[in-house]
Amino acid sequence: MISQTTIQQILGRLDIIDVVGAFVKLKRRGTNYLGLCPFHNEKTPSFTVSPAKEIYKCFGCGRSGNTISFLMEHEKYSYVDALKWLANKYGIEIEETFQSDEQRQQQQSADSLYIINNFAREFFSRMLFDTEEGQDVGLAYFKERGFREEIIQKFQLGYSPEKRDAFTKEALAQQYSSESLLKTGLVVNRNEQLQDNYRGRVIFPIHNHSGKVLGFGARILKSNDKAPKYINTPENEIYIKSKILYGSYFARQAIDKADECLLVEGYTDVLSLHQAGIENVVASGGTSLTPDQLRLIRKYSSNLTIIYDGDAAGVKAALRGLDLALEEGLNVKLVLIPDKEDPDSYVNKIGAAAFTRFVEKSKKDFILFQLEVALKDAGSDSTKKAEVVNRMAETISKINKAEDFTKQQDYIKQCSEILKIDEGGLHTLVNKFIRDRIVTMERKLPFEEAKHHEQNARQAAETNYDDATFNLLFKDELQEREVARILLEYGTKKWNDERLVSEYIFDEMIDESLIDNQQVIRLIHVFKDMLQRDAGTLNKNYFVYHEDRDLSALAVSLLNAPYEESEHWRGEYSQSSGYTKSLFEQPYENFIRAVAKDNEKELMRYLKMDEDRTTEVVDSAINYLKLRKVKRMLLENQLDLEKPHTKEEYTMLHQTHDHLKQMEIGLTRKMGTVIIK
Ligand code: UTP
Ligand code: MN
Repeated sequence: MISQTTIQQILGRLDIIDVVGAFVKLKRRGTNYLGLCPFHNEKTPSFTVSPAKEIYKCFGCGRSGNTISFLMEHEKYSYVDALKWLANKYGIEIEETFQSDEQRQQQQSADSLYIINNFAREFFSRMLFDTEEGQDVGLAYFKERGFREEIIQKFQLGYSPEKRDAFTKEALAQQYSSESLLKTGLVVNRNEQLQDNYRGRVIFPIHNHSGKVLGFGARILKSNDKAPKYINTPENEIYIKSKILYGSYFARQAIDKADECLLVEGYTDVLSLHQAGIENVVASGGTSLTPDQLRLIRKYSSNLTIIYDGDAAGVKAALRGLDLALEEGLNVKLVLIPDKEDPDSYVNKIGAAAFTRFVEKSKKDFILFQLEVALKDAGSDSTKKAEVVNRMAETISKINKAEDFTKQQDYIKQCSEILKIDEGGLHTLVNKFIRDRIVTMERKLPFEEAKHHEQNARQAAETNYDDATFNLLFKDELQEREVARILLEYGTKKWNDERLVSEYIFDEMIDESLIDNQQVIRLIHVFKDMLQRDAGTLNKNYFVYHEDRDLSALAVSLLNAPYEESEHWRGEYSQSSGYTKSLFEQPYENFIRAVAKDNEKELMRYLKMDEDRTTEVVDSAINYLKLRKVKRMLLENQLDLEKPHTKEEYTMLHQTHDHLKQMEIGLTRKMGTVIIK
């Protein structure tokens, strides 16, 4: 672990313009800098870097973050590696903190697995090339399959001899502990004896993205009904199957260059494609893609092309990962290999050039492909067809990132054409799925609460409320985020002689009881915790540079947001409910006017006012939040009133209504705004 002092030193030194500028050509534009976004293709610059806020944002693709997240995204560094890169750049010496015994043990255990794997890799390679058995059996097998020596060397393939304990003996002689050896899966305990696990098999080492060996796949040479075709490393500290993409170490540069990642099923597919000069390829290892694997791919490129066997199982496996890929914002294409071949055999059969051409011309859009398959399945059965429509709407609804909006619209258009249904109808259906999910999954509400919200959503959908009402019901996000932003911006300032602004906010909100957004709640918890432990280091940057990327992303987006979001919701508010402009916006406008007129005296007045504005801004944000909640409760109460009730229940509901109405009036009065309607 890098010590807090070192981190502070690094943060103190880093200059976002300097760092980002090393990768992106930046031009000064007023107080900000502008350049071509490195995260998406663009011709006119919309990538903005603010040295004052120490953040960047692309108005084209929406990416934003701080200096460290820039290095993590652009250079694919881990958090620690990004810090190390910066330390190196600024000549800061890294001080490591003391690790707990448990941490040290874990680290040592992981290290020892890497060391043993590396030893084993060398051993298997030696057995393959330098022994008679290896050459006659292992090497002969690889050659027969058409693998050339350079590819065997590059992928560090090997051979494990038939002998019962060839590896075990050498490993024990090297003093590796039997406990660690068993963990790597290279050695097994049979009848109280340590033995080799991969006897008489060819070996495929599995590397992580930086080339270290995580484990092995050991393939049998002859087909045998009893023994498995491959024996793979068992799960351990470093071999976590769901996070492994075979070949990523060898594919990274080619993926970058092509901005496309090809995905195949097996080790040998990766090898054969490499040999054919197609290097932007990784393998999932035979099962359907896991969320972690998809996320890894997303880091390398947003264009994923899945190349699978054309058989039913292959297609099914391919389809299973789809919705997840869409949620990750990946563009997914599918290529099916014909005639019971796999990519390995097919490229060997038709040659590299023909294979590349085949892939290019047979790439199918994943969603449209899925639609085709489902439609064929449904035939003329109208119930089944309705199911297909539903499923497609759900699939399309998962393309839900703001920057993918056009893509979603395109799919709605194309799918409605293929399905021969009304485009508007499909649109409504897609929106319904999105709403349902906003309410249930994305807000990650506890089950009971989620159910309740889902019912409301359904009712709302059926009752056909107008948009404003719907927003009122489900979008408290903006108010909550505004309070969070205020907390970051002013939290450590003094409210009065006794309290900090943050303490005032916590009191007013009765801690976080007014907040639904889980991320905001977490931010509040961390804030409170730091307030008690180490109030001195608590500031905006503590969150902007927080190790927890979710938290840091939230902080960045909040500090980035005032112009986009608070303006937006205030606008929305004054339109939908007829509020006049909040008072505190007027002094701000006057202030701008004073700046424009360069009127020093007037300016001084506003600068002094700036201090007072804190109170005003804080109160305003809290009151907006409270008002929003009250309005929501009013609306929910109203919905409840529309249902049949007993007399007592009606009385209760009416009392609640009156009470809430009183609160609403009180709040709006406090805010100096007037309800017109
Ligand atoms: P395949 O059966 O397609 O293997 O399984 P392959 O790699 O193409 O091997 P060849 O061409 O028949 O020699 C695809 C992947 O599924 C995993 C492996 O990762 C394999 O590469 N698999 C398969 C196993 O882990 N265990 C098995 O028994 C079979
Ligand atoms: Mn194969």
